[in-house]
Amino acid sequence: MSHPAVFCGEGGVPEKHWVGRSFGRAADGYDGLAGLQRTTADAVLAGWFARTTRHRPDWILDVGAGTGYPTRHLHQHWPEARVLAVDLAEGMLRVARRHWPDADPLHCVVGDAETLPVADGGVDMLFTNLALQWCSSVTAAFSEFYRVLKPGGQLAFSTFGPATLHELRAAWASADDHTHVSHFPEPDILRTALDGCGWAGVELHSTLTRLQYAGVLDLMHELKGLGAHNLTRNRARHLQGKSAWQRMVAAYPADRNGEVWASFEVIAGYCRKPVSGK
Ligand SMILES: C[S@@+](CC[C@H](N)C(=O)[O-])C[C@H]1O[C@@H](n2cnc3c(N)ncnc32)[C@H](O)[C@@H]1O
Repeated sequence: MSHPAVFCGEGGVPEKHWVGRSFGRAADGYDGLAGLQRTTADAVLAGWFARTTRHRPDWILDVGAGTGYPTRHLHQHWPEARVLAVDLAEGMLRVARRHWPDADPLHCVVGDAETLPVADGGVDMLFTNLALQWCSSVTAAFSEFYRVLKPGGQLAFSTFGPATLHELRAAWASADDHTHVSHFPEPDILRTALDGCGWAGVELHSTLTRLQYAGVLDLMHELKGLGAHNLTRNRARHLQGKSAWQRMVAAYPADRNGEVWASFEVIAGYCRKPVSGK
């Protein structure tokens, strides 16, 4: 029996071909499940729009654009700008194209956040919502974002922080020795990575959200439906035993009626490439 386990981050490095494949498979059902992703995009975009009222970008890049919810909001906010959506999963971009208004072109490219198919200084603004946690290295991604932004260009991002799915991580830790939920970076690690790349005006904000599920199985099904399988290199390769799964479910804290809570820590970040930045 193979159970979906979840997520990855710098502690458990994701296997990229599986990340693309997993999100591609999830693309058609993604929008029906992506409530947290939408709420997060809305909050980060609202914060960004308030900080960039004087900006008139020519090119905006949405990295890990998925089915294009934030991409469409970027386009509505800056209708004069051209928006480029990049994602590892072709299937996600196919859905994004379907939702895009006919009158305007959507520029989409299959590509990796850590090696973007964009020239040095090619874009004015870069947005990325809940995709960074899938990168092998946030430092590599931040440095790549810096490369493709023009001097003075703006970056807004969100990613998961260490409290994310801590209940599930702890429940699995008491069930077997494999990595099921990796450790997401602390805000300090993100700040150090950003400072090291040369970003200026770094602001980080952490928010904790707790979501309720009818049971652990519902939580796992939602994560699987979002494409968020366990794709870390040290995941269990063999089919997981029924008993490990049962131990995990038994260890997950549940209400008297079997309902469970899952925590999601979202870290939002805003910064800019200095005007003097190369
Ligand atoms: C949780 S979804 C978020 C999608 C979208 N940003 C949103 O807010 O709905 C994460 C997306 O990141 C993409 N992704 C993961 N790793 C990536 C990488 N290294 N480069 C580009 N896209 C990546 C996935 O294919 C997926 O579409």
